Amino acid sequence: MKRLRLGLLGCGVVGGGVVEGIHRNADHIAAQTGVEVCITRIAVRDLSRPRTPHVRREWLTDDWRQVCEAPDVDVVVEVMGGLHPALEATRLALVRGKHVVTANKQLMALHGEHLLALAADSGREILYEASVLGGIPAIHNIRTYFRATRVQHLRGILNGTCNYILTRMEEGLEFDEALRQAQAEGYAEADPTLDIDGWDALYKIQILAALAFHERMDVTAIAREGIRSVSGQMVREARARGQRVRLVAEAERTPSGRVTARVGPQWLDPADPLYNVNGVQNALCVSGDLAGSILLAGPGAGRFPTASAVMEDIVKLAGQVRDVRRMDLPLSVSAG
Ligand code: HSE
Repeated sequence: MKRLRLGLLGCGVVGGGVVEGIHRNADHIAAQTGVEVCITRIAVRDLSRPRTPHVRREWLTDDWRQVCEAPDVDVVVEVMGGLHPALEATRLALVRGKHVVTANKQLMALHGEHLLALAADSGREILYEASVLGGIPAIHNIRTYFRATRVQHLRGILNGTCNYILTRMEEGLEFDEALRQAQAEGYAEADPTLDIDGWDALYKIQILAALAFHERMDVTAIAREGIRSVSGQMVREARARGQRVRLVAEAERTPSGRVTARVGPQWLDPADPLYNVNGVQNALCVSGDLAGSILLAGPGAGRFPTASAVMEDIVKLAGQVRDVRRMDLPLSVSAG
């Protein structure tokens, strides 16, 4: 059986989920793709930190360059988050002929164009399903489905942490305690201001808009407001009126042909398709000229939902290995 060898950059909430997910489901993936997916290396910041039980000691290094350059790595899985050294690492991996799977929305929103071009030049792929909407296959659907329908409008709840906080505030919790719980559940970014100030949702709507409208907006052109200005009292008063406060991101192509986007709190009525999106759930409403409005909904953050999106991208690469093998063409991955 052919093998697809993974080198992970990071082994925190999502990386640990990928290790566990591969441990549990490698046989399921192999049965469908004919490819054995296995981990050979993991770069971590702190070698002494306790890890999930299925991490083998011999995989670990504190040098990300080693993973990006290793001859026994076919796919670099970037789950470290943040911009640096994630940018340097993904660039190095692509230049060294590795495919890249990343969960990093900041990286893809700010440097996606450059990284996609680099991947094309290197004859490799950079896949980033896990960068938006956790376990919901939003990128997959926008890329593969909306090709006959012209997408006109995207509108969604794209940040699990804010949605969790606002939902818990409806129940009477104060902002700080709700944020602490979101952090304890592993939903928040390492720097939670990225969530609560709307940056995370902004990066995600920029990525989705680029795919839906085939035009990449500069992030500075997207209006942004987070949820700091929303008090517990405002949330509970809205609830008493039958409304819900949610952080909503939107993008559209205007009649003049321009793509615009914005992120900010909205007061939703019960008829709104996003009204029943609670807790860490996310949802994206895609409206098109032929299809009408389609709602994609599911878990927007957390260890296994995000790890599952990372793994679906890995399976796409494993599928290419199988297809290449069937066509009897030279393989870009190792013979096991
Ligand atoms: N911090 C992000 C969120 C993680 O809360 O949605 C998933 O992208």
